Amino acid sequence: MAQQRPCVVLIFGGQSTEHQVSCLTAAGVAKAIDTERFEVHGVGISPSGTWHRIDLPAIAELRTEGRRLPELDDTLPRATLVRNPEGVLLVTRDGDRLLDPVRVDVAFVLLHGAYGEDGTIQGHLEMLGLPYVGSGVMASAIGMDKHFMKVVLEAAGLPVGPYEVVLPSEWQWGREQICDRISGKLDYPLFVKPARGGSSVGITRVTDPNKLAEAIDEAREVDPKVVVEQGFVGAREVECAVLGPIGSDTDEHAAVRTSRPGEIVVHTESAFYDFDAKYLPGEGQVELRIPADLDAETEQAVRTMACACFAALGCEGLARVDYFLTAQGRIVVNEVNTMPGFTELSMFPSLWQVSGLDYQGLIADLIEQAMRRPNTVVR
Ligand SMILES: Nc1ncnc2c1ncn2[C@@H]1O[C@H](COP(=O)(O)OP(=O)(O)O)[C@@H](O)[C@H]1O
Ligand SMILES: [Mg+2]
Repeated sequence: MAQQRPCVVLIFGGQSTEHQVSCLTAAGVAKAIDTERFEVHGVGISPSGTWHRIDLPAIAELRTEGRRLPELDDTLPRATLVRNPEGVLLVTRDGDRLLDPVRVDVAFVLLHGAYGEDGTIQGHLEMLGLPYVGSGVMASAIGMDKHFMKVVLEAAGLPVGPYEVVLPSEWQWGREQICDRISGKLDYPLFVKPARGGSSVGITRVTDPNKLAEAIDEAREVDPKVVVEQGFVGAREVECAVLGPIGSDTDEHAAVRTSRPGEIVVHTESAFYDFDAKYLPGEGQVELRIPADLDAETEQAVRTMACACFAALGCEGLARVDYFLTAQGRIVVNEVNTMPGFTELSMFPSLWQVSGLDYQGLIADLIEQAMRRPNTVVR
């Protein structure tokens, strides 16, 4: 009986600025996953990029101590995934020796940001032939890049806010001209963002044109490509969770599913959902309203648009679509997250909770979706 449980490998940690957040996510999943239904193993990627074998109880232990978020170090045994004719093996590497092999059926990638949510690990898993939860290479890469994401959404006729892009090659030759160009096209306040970042790292809200260059420099420390957006003043932030279909093409579950929307209310002075507000709350700065208090028509529009965004980017498995509801009543897409925050208290699982799917059920749903889907690069 026990041998028949599908074997899941949780892959978490990683080299991005969101390493610690990923560890919290993995701990949440480790505690909630139904071990009667799934056999579970772990690969923790350290900030330096080394893969480590870590078992379920150790993952569940990762937690925030005071204001210190969890982090993996390089003392754990090394791990690797190996493609064999009979399937993919998770093994511990001790020098040249490969120990404790376990055959794995599916990967649950719980990485955020670079090398996790951006198509790179997805490409690695495609090469191994191991099915995985979530979007494939292309949708992950587009969802990660705030510039290309807007290009794709705009091409699909979906509403995005006014923005300018600062390309890596142009900044060093014309800082002043670029700042003038941006200030001429967009109204302040501006939001300056690394194109491929996450968790608000490297993002600055700029109210003074003299501070724009500094903010671009700061964003460039995360990504040499920078997106500058016109800030929405007095807008509400609303998010909608999306799940891929669970049934075959012909039955009633063939459709993409959306949750009830939620709202983030930020009470900080700059009204900006920054890193501390996301992960070190406690001063009553941020409130998640789940579900959001929206009229039926707006709720429906947000849900319908979430499906359209999911389709436009070619997402699979899951996504969270974030919007601004502007003071003028427009719905504008802020971003599509292909690996949204996934601790039990994060927006994505909470939205499914109020929409009738609990955390444990959600985890199983995603794994089932992944196991039914062929790998996505070559069909
Ligand atoms: N154009 C904008 N207008 C107003 N607020 C914004 C804008 N862009 C970002 N913000 C604020 O900054 C936060 C983080 O920006 P976001 O683009 O979602 O980055 P991340 O990918 O790091 O979550 C948002 O949740 C919102 O509070
Ligand atoms: Mg965001």
